[in-house]
Amino acid sequence: MLLKSVPVSAIFYLSIVTLCHAAVYSSFSDLPSKVYDFVIVGGGTAGNTVASRLTENPEYSVLVLEAGGTNIDAYQLDVPFFALDIKFQYDWNFTTTLQLGLNNRSIFMPRGFVLGGSSSVNGMFYTRGSADDYDRFAAVTGDDGWSWNSLQPYIAKNEKWEPPANRHNTTGQFNPSVHSLTGVNAVSLSGYSQSTDPMVFEAVNQLGGIFHFNEDYNSGSPLGFSWLQSTITTEGRRSSSAMSYLAPEYIKRKNLDVLLHARVSRVLPSVSRNSSTGYAFRSVEFAQDLNGPLLQVNASKEVILSGGVIGSPHILLNSGIGDSDELSKIGINPLVNLPSVGKNFSDQPGLANLFLVNSTKTNDDIYRNATLLDEVYTEFNKSGMGPLVDIGANQISFFRVNESLLGKYGDPSSGKNSPHIEMVPLNRFFGKPPPTGYYFQLWSYLVSPASRGTLTINSTNPFATPLINPGYFTHPFDIAAMRESLRIMFQYVSAPVWEGYILSQYGPFENVTASSSDDVLDEYNRNNVGTSSHPVGTAAMSATDADYGVVDPDLRVKGVEGLRIVDASVFPFVTSAHTQAPTYAIAEKAAALIKASWM
Ligand SMILES: Cc1cc2nc3c(=O)[nH]c(=O)nc-3n(C[C@H](O)[C@H](O)[C@H](O)COP(=O)(O)OP(=O)(O)OC[C@H]3O[C@@H](n4cnc5c(N)ncnc54)[C@H](O)[C@@H]3O)c2cc1C
Ligand SMILES: *[C@@H]1O[C@H](CO)[C@@H](O)[C@H](O)[C@H]1NC(C)=O
Ligand SMILES: *[C@@H]1O[C@H](CO)[C@@H](O)[C@H](O)[C@H]1NC(C)=O
Ligand SMILES: *[C@@H]1O[C@H](CO)[C@@H](O)[C@H](O)[C@H]1NC(C)=O
Ligand SMILES: *[C@@H]1O[C@H](CO)[C@@H](O)[C@H](O)[C@H]1NC(C)=O
Ligand SMILES: *[C@@H]1O[C@H](CO)[C@@H](O)[C@H](O)[C@H]1NC(C)=O
Ligand SMILES: *[C@@H]1O[C@H](CO)[C@@H](O)[C@H](O)[C@H]1NC(C)=O
Ligand SMILES: *[C@@H]1O[C@H](CO)[C@@H](O)[C@H](O)[C@H]1NC(C)=O
Ligand SMILES: *[C@@H]1O[C@H](CO)[C@@H](O)[C@H](O)[C@H]1NC(C)=O
Ligand SMILES: *[C@@H]1O[C@H](CO)[C@@H](O)[C@H](O)[C@H]1NC(C)=O
Ligand SMILES: *[C@@H]1O[C@H](CO)[C@@H](O)[C@H](O)[C@H]1NC(C)=O
Ligand SMILES: *[C@@H]1O[C@H](CO)[C@@H](O)[C@H](O)[C@H]1NC(C)=O
Ligand SMILES: *[C@@H]1O[C@H](CO)[C@@H](O)[C@H](O)[C@H]1NC(C)=O
Repeated sequence: MLLKSVPVSAIFYLSIVTLCHAAVYSSFSDLPSKVYDFVIVGGGTAGNTVASRLTENPEYSVLVLEAGGTNIDAYQLDVPFFALDIKFQYDWNFTTTLQLGLNNRSIFMPRGFVLGGSSSVNGMFYTRGSADDYDRFAAVTGDDGWSWNSLQPYIAKNEKWEPPANRHNTTGQFNPSVHSLTGVNAVSLSGYSQSTDPMVFEAVNQLGGIFHFNEDYNSGSPLGFSWLQSTITTEGRRSSSAMSYLAPEYIKRKNLDVLLHARVSRVLPSVSRNSSTGYAFRSVEFAQDLNGPLLQVNASKEVILSGGVIGSPHILLNSGIGDSDELSKIGINPLVNLPSVGKNFSDQPGLANLFLVNSTKTNDDIYRNATLLDEVYTEFNKSGMGPLVDIGANQISFFRVNESLLGKYGDPSSGKNSPHIEMVPLNRFFGKPPPTGYYFQLWSYLVSPASRGTLTINSTNPFATPLINPGYFTHPFDIAAMRESLRIMFQYVSAPVWEGYILSQYGPFENVTASSSDDVLDEYNRNNVGTSSHPVGTAAMSATDADYGVVDPDLRVKGVEGLRIVDASVFPFVTSAHTQAPTYAIAEKAAALIKASWM
């Protein structure tokens, strides 16, 4: 009787689960085996990609251990418009340590706690970053396989370009030659036209200079103003790694099992240490009930950590893989001295600047008028159209800061075609709006930060929350660049087209102006900046012979056997945009590397 409201994909999925004795399990006792060729820790963005690719070979058995639950019962996650509300039920609920650079605030650090990981809860922006970002990966690892050109086949294996939900004429809004129709994960232009679309580009025309149209920011050269591309299907649904890489045609494979509600504590070493290859880590310890027994599964070939930028280094540290001195101090037996584990945490600070506008055509009434919400939700359910197919952002823009800043602090970006600043216009309030008023917002992000932080542990209890210290604004470039992002934004809203539309600034932003002193601008940033949710780098790859880093250019953990890391923690630097597209590209390449090493 519930079937009427269940999406088609879910019906299909549920029937497969019943017919094939379930490839997705909730209980350890139901698992058909305790030994698999590959055990993947974390069914997130990267983990599901690797699982899907490895099981293309029917000879390989793969188990995915995911701490969170199913995505199938979580229909609200499929609705793009709802992406800006934090859904604690599907989150790890992490907060950072007190941040000196943020006037001692501790901020929320969202991470998906559900099959699909952060790809099930993210903002769906599809941004590859710049060609220079990947060429820097290649340079620091000494492996040309990580260059922009070398990664193109893997970007193409991931991306499945689709028409937007409303099938509008998209000519001139993207460059077809830089997109792939043959990948797994859906990418599309926005499927709902916003009342602000013409004004956003008219301002660009009026201003010129750094404000110029860029036909496709995913070409490797992102600078300028472009139409936004998102991981949303032509039916207007979120395309997470759970929906795409674990779609019915893949999850039905007999060699692929997923165990939900399985929280991994440690990887366990072989009994003895081999003097040339070190310990082998092919056993995985986990719990389904944090107060219950510890369980174990083994990999005959490899364990692949895909727990993400927090989960993967956390498991390594619990296992005695990290800075031996620091581990000894808290009472953990150090097994492998890899001081870079958890270091070089790199996140992009950002914030939403809000304006009140002279219009009733924003998306704010959707949250204030139950009749309207029912109307647009019904349209979404029936036809996959209407305002719920997007988050309310149809454009994206990227800028470099003034050369004078680079002269003063050095340039943390990967090259001259890489941005420092990202600005995104949205035709709505962030999340649920106040009872009155209509809103426009401009997000500003520092996408090439210089500050670095840490992920550490302070307990021998593997299920204790780790300490997350992003180190925001610990490098002076970052606060100066965020100041500059406000100046770029004020320049943008000074375009004549916004006259009579933008009425005033809103909230903590209300008194900040283009001519405010540096101190006023900095205080506004320190008091309001949060995470962009794009941290990387806590298990970074480095050259095989480097004296730092956690994994080699083939993503194998240095100094041990049987253990690889595949997720956003291996980025040696953050790419100059949102991080899911690069995570998918890394995962596609990793799957090919793993297959090749067992041929
Ligand atoms: C709210 C939010 C908005 C974002 N918006 C965007 C955006 O619009 N565009 C974009 O490109 N990027 C965005 N990002 C970033 C992007 O989603 C991430 O960089 C990317 O998904 C990271 O992939 P991952 O595989 O490293 O980790 P995840 O996808 O987070 O996967 C890690 C998985 O491991 C599981 N796990 C962790 N620890 C354990 C353990 N101990 N045992 C078992 N399982 C474990 C987790 O539950 C999770 O499923 C956003 C992220 C968030 C959180
Ligand atoms: C749309 O479908 C979802 C999932 O079945 C359901 O929860 C929601 O109530 C539906 N909305 C409307 C307005 O029918
Ligand atoms: C986060 O909090 C919510 C309740 O607000 C809870 O349902 C969820 O399980 C929590 N996440 C974790 C990983 O404990
Ligand atoms: C932040 O905390 C530090 C150390 O506790 C203190 O010295 C400093 O004054 C605090 N800063 C602010 C702005 O409160
Ligand atoms: C689509 O738009 C382009 C550019 O505006 C225009 O040249 C073309 O004729 C349009 N195509 C159709 C089918 O309307
Ligand atoms: C150590 O590992 C190497 C490479 O796999 C292997 O050849 C050797 O036999 C191992 N030594 C011991 C003592 O197991
Ligand atoms: C897993 O490997 C460990 C040795 O590392 C062994 O003690 C254990 O019995 C193995 N478990 C299974 C199910 O094979
Ligand atoms: C952090 O990364 C830099 C390269 O950006 C590297 O030189 C340094 O050694 C790394 N630090 C650690 C502790 O890994
Ligand atoms: C709420 O939305 C409905 C449907 O669009 C509309 O008819 C009604 O006038 C709206 N109510 C208010 C108070 O704006
Ligand atoms: C860059 O900064 C210099 C020195 O502060 C200033 O003179 C110049 O106008 C700035 N250029 C731009 C494009 O803002
Ligand atoms: C680490 O744990 C110790 C002992 O529980 C506690 O005293 C200390 O405050 C903790 N440090 C941090 C940074 O949480
Ligand atoms: C709001 O816009 C209307 C035209 O759409 C204009 O007549 C009016 O002056 C504007 N209001 C303000 C306060 O600018
Ligand atoms: C802005 O200035 C007004 C007038 O001085 C003041 O009442 C208000 O609190 C200020 N707003 C903020 C966010 O500081």
